[in-house]
Amino acid sequence: MSVLIKGGKVVNADQSIFADVYCEGGLIKAIGQDLDVPSDAEVIDASGKLVMPGGIDPHTHMQLPFMGTVASEDFYSGTAAGLAGGTTMIIDFVIPNPQQPLMEAYQTWKDWAARSVCDYSFHVAITWWDDSVYQDMGTLVNQEGVNSFKHFMAYKNAIMAEDETLVNSFNRCLELGAMPTVHAENGELVDHLQKKLLKAGLTGPEAHPLSRPTEVEGEAANRAIRIAQSLGVPLYLVHVSCKEAVDEIARARHEGQRVYGECLAGHLELDDSVYRQSNWASAAAHVMSPPFRPKGHQEVLWKALQGGTLQTTATDHCCFCADQKANGKDDFTKIPNGTAGVEDRMMVLWDSGVNKGRLSESEFVAVTSTNSAKIFNLYPQKGCIAVGSDADIVIWDPTKTHTLSAKTHHQKIDFNIFEGRTVQGAPHITISQGNVVFKNGQLNVVEGAGRYIKRPAFPSIFEAVQKYNQSHAPVGIER
Ligand code: URP
Ligand code: ZN
Ligand code: ZN
Repeated sequence: MSVLIKGGKVVNADQSIFADVYCEGGLIKAIGQDLDVPSDAEVIDASGKLVMPGGIDPHTHMQLPFMGTVASEDFYSGTAAGLAGGTTMIIDFVIPNPQQPLMEAYQTWKDWAARSVCDYSFHVAITWWDDSVYQDMGTLVNQEGVNSFKHFMAYKNAIMAEDETLVNSFNRCLELGAMPTVHAENGELVDHLQKKLLKAGLTGPEAHPLSRPTEVEGEAANRAIRIAQSLGVPLYLVHVSCKEAVDEIARARHEGQRVYGECLAGHLELDDSVYRQSNWASAAAHVMSPPFRPKGHQEVLWKALQGGTLQTTATDHCCFCADQKANGKDDFTKIPNGTAGVEDRMMVLWDSGVNKGRLSESEFVAVTSTNSAKIFNLYPQKGCIAVGSDADIVIWDPTKTHTLSAKTHHQKIDFNIFEGRTVQGAPHITISQGNVVFKNGQLNVVEGAGRYIKRPAFPSIFEAVQKYNQSHAPVGIER
């Protein structure tokens, strides 16, 4: 199938041009005016529209087994919802149980994800440590195209990585040229505060943010950054939610450390008042970690995104319906943590970012697609409109209005954290691998059409860091 997108403004992270885009065989084949294309190509009129790289959501959890239940969104429904919102690739997380072999968990997630309707890739979580983990990290990087490993510094007695594991795994990442990433919250403090709040009789969702104050995130962010600094390895912090963590990233970057930060559409927009509403189910529906923050932190995140301290946006899409959230009816620590957004992210970012003058069109592309592609080594296969890149494209209508709602969204969850919000700027058409998969509000997807995308390691940057470390080691000491 071939497609000619005519008359649109092509917006990349570095420039915008008025040009037609021709796609064939799943790739972008030509960009320009008066292109010579086959007469049977499907022609799409994109006048008045923007032709942008499809969104990349670098943080999703489809059908995650978590906190005694399983996330309601599967890889089929979740990737379809993403396409309806202009997101054409996700990076999900393989999360082995402690003591579970990494390769076994990886295979399980690969089997689940085979139903995806758009391209996908995986970060793999390091939840425990022994020699087999060390070996499997090598296999994952060198044979399976996994170039990033996740470390949960929270969720004690479950998937939390102790400092010893962080050190071992970060060091292994350095050897392999892989990117360590962290969920930065001090799990010991969370555990302590949860027990204290329960003892004081605070059992409802309003206690959730009290058990995870911003210092808890700031401390963990600083610890992870300092460990990475000591070892000379880059670091990526997922779902940065507060000033304390932003400040640590800004300081590290200012000192020349290679540290990256991601923020979520939810954290940019919502504050912690959502936990204090009288409707239990609605308050519980917002329980995620880190929690939504007191007013003021949202603007700090926006400024950090505008200024480059944070580079990417994601959703942490992890859906639990009301009956699942009800597991924590008498104890907030048992409410499954997670909120949705894979379908909403691009529209929310456009509406609050571009429409409010915080982001230019090109900056929007950078923070929704290109920067993730670069950081996770998908660029230029993904993240740009260029000859030879995958034809993953969103044709964006900046005038279209859309009301975000659980009643109409495609996400498999009975709640929308942006419920009732009318945004301006929405996908007109989404194209995945050169195929029109979303048009006129209708999805046209094929189960299993999504491909697993391998992401090679980053030997060059890492070799340079290793060389630097060796040359700067004190005499007589080998690092
Ligand atoms: O509350 C959240 N974020 N749930 C998903 C797991 C995680 O921490 O990313
Ligand atoms: Zn997390
Ligand atoms: Zn997550």
